[in-house]
Amino acid sequence: MSGTEQEYRLYRDLADWWPLISPKEEYTAEARYLAAVLAAAGTGIHQVLDLGSGGGHMAVHLRDDFQVTMVDISAEMLAVSERLNPGSEHIQGDMRSVRLARSFDAVLVHDAIDYITTGQDLRQVIDTAFAHCRPGGLALFVPDYVKDTFREIAGSGGGGDDGSGRHASFREWTWDPDPADDWVQAEYEFTLGAVDGTEQIIREKHRLGAFSAATWHALLAAAGFTAVSGPEPGTAPSRNARGAQPAAPGALPGTPPEHLFSAWRPPEPGADRLP
Ligand SMILES: C[S@@+](CC[C@H](N)C(=O)[O-])C[C@H]1O[C@@H](n2cnc3c(N)ncnc32)[C@H](O)[C@@H]1O
Repeated sequence: MSGTEQEYRLYRDLADWWPLISPKEEYTAEARYLAAVLAAAGTGIHQVLDLGSGGGHMAVHLRDDFQVTMVDISAEMLAVSERLNPGSEHIQGDMRSVRLARSFDAVLVHDAIDYITTGQDLRQVIDTAFAHCRPGGLALFVPDYVKDTFREIAGSGGGGDDGSGRHASFREWTWDPDPADDWVQAEYEFTLGAVDGTEQIIREKHRLGAFSAATWHALLAAAGFTAVSGPEPGTAPSRNARGAQPAAPGALPGTPPEHLFSAWRPPEPGADRLP
């Protein structure tokens, strides 16, 4: 990201359109899967830190089962999430540097990790996750893109309406200008329909991270995480076997994300590993 996020209108003056551009219903199946991963961890996960929580579309599906604390760099996106998740704690902060001076049972970095585009920044986010993960806790990272499996996207999209007469849709094209580096280029075209029937079309390019699995594993290990698994979907870590133990394929409900890196913060030396 390196400062470029500040320039993305999607998360600034267009933030009120987020619920229409990326409706919360589109997160339901994946949230169900991630909730099952957290529940299956066997380590008593109650408090979850969501770094880069955006409009709260993931958190809204988790908040019944977990106490979710949300951090985002954008005040506008936090305001959108506060309307959807009024009882939840929202904090403005940069996931590379924020320090809340408390720890959580789990740290989730969902698609906001896409906005991290250099290895140095990725290491900082992983350090933030480690710093907020209690010993024996779990960190989950859900990037949309991993270099090893990257495929171009040409013109796909989505969107919805809110029943008030407003509607939004988008199309996206994503390609990799240089496979030697750690980011890909996304170009979005948003069509925003106002209540009065007028439409505006907005185009903007986003730079999105696409790190190799090897880079992910190396940086997670360097930060102190152990039993790292991923990016294969459909597996869940369990500490019952003293480490990451894949759940049987299809054992968990919901829809696995395409990429999921899960990592344990080791328990304190001498501490009983089981709660
Ligand atoms: C795709 S949206 C996240 C959507 C979110 N998963 C949801 O449930 O609505 C990406 C978010 O990442 C945030 N973001 C980007 N860089 C960030 C950073 N360095 N620290 C914190 N948030 C960041 C943006 O402000 C934006 O809200």
